[in-house]
Amino acid sequence: MKRVMVVTGGGDCPGLNAVIRAIVKRAAQEKDWEVVGCIQAYDGILREPTEIKVLDEKSVAGIHVQGGTIIGTTNKGGPFAWPVKNSDGTYSFVDRSDEMIRKIQYLGIDAVISIGGDGSQKISQLLFEKGLNVVGVPKTIDNDLSATDYTFGFQTAVQIASEGIDRLVTTAASHNRVLIMEVMGRNAGWIALHAAIAGGADVCLIPEIPYDINKVAEKINARYNRGRGFAIVVVAEGAMPKDGTLVFEKSDEIGYENLRLGGVASKLMKELKAAGVEADMRETVLGHLQRGGSPVAYDRILATQFGVKAFELVLEGKFGQMVAYRHPDIIGVPFLEAIDRPNFVQPDSALVSAGKGIGISFGE
Ligand code: F6P
Repeated sequence: MKRVMVVTGGGDCPGLNAVIRAIVKRAAQEKDWEVVGCIQAYDGILREPTEIKVLDEKSVAGIHVQGGTIIGTTNKGGPFAWPVKNSDGTYSFVDRSDEMIRKIQYLGIDAVISIGGDGSQKISQLLFEKGLNVVGVPKTIDNDLSATDYTFGFQTAVQIASEGIDRLVTTAASHNRVLIMEVMGRNAGWIALHAAIAGGADVCLIPEIPYDINKVAEKINARYNRGRGFAIVVVAEGAMPKDGTLVFEKSDEIGYENLRLGGVASKLMKELKAAGVEADMRETVLGHLQRGGSPVAYDRILATQFGVKAFELVLEGKFGQMVAYRHPDIIGVPFLEAIDRPNFVQPDSALVSAGKGIGISFGE
């Protein structure tokens, strides 16, 4: 019997369970393969006692419609930077990768499929260099990896954000308010751009197009002057003014450095007041609502394709690769090609131009 271990790392993302299910169902078609899941990213394998569980067709039945991940996840580092709490409450980080690889071998695991974002893919490359048989599956709602046309989870986040705008429009119109909605995306504006177009926002602010607050204020005031007494502003969490800088904060108790830009909407509201917007304004931060719940059909399908392909790469012994969608194919690309190549919105792209074509202001 051969064993493949599935790991989900980093933030959760709608479609993770569909990938797991696809791996298990594809593996079940081979007589001699067993799939195990490592609990909470690589933590399960490093814990004493080890926490891994066998995943069979029964245990994954119907999970493709569920959000989250049935094997859990964490974004607190990984085997190369394992946190150890010091007596003074601070943390030190130790490299436990060799110990982890030994444990994986001891457990008779022949290959690992690691489903995660760019951080997980970097860890996979380092583990691959140390001799581990590992295949990657890209995961992020932010859609900011250029090795693949799309990542699963993105369409679900866009759907949720668009529905958010639909709801904000009716309350904004009733109260003649400016409603500012902050969406996720780290330092990419994909979710904001798609949602703004789908939802019919008036202003869309994304990191790739630094905004001039006076232009945003002009757009809003012009709408009010024309008698359209409300406005919807979508702002990506990474958006910044022309002279702005990204803010990095130590955001959790372990002290991992996360990009944390929460509060962008309220900052924008203050900037708009200072720039002469007199209308009543309110902010909404969608936050983790964008990552929770059932994936839309598109994400279930893409995630399923990724899961099947990942297992097939394992069967073919093509390690050191990440699955990717390059229309119309699902292919394997070397980790080295997949990492460190972020995918940002191009300010001169067709989608931005369509947005401008329907009158959306990008604050330029
Ligand atoms: O990368 C996915 C993402 O949801 C980003 O859009 C967001 O900035 C970040 O993760 C939030 O991370 P956390 O769940 O750790 O707060």
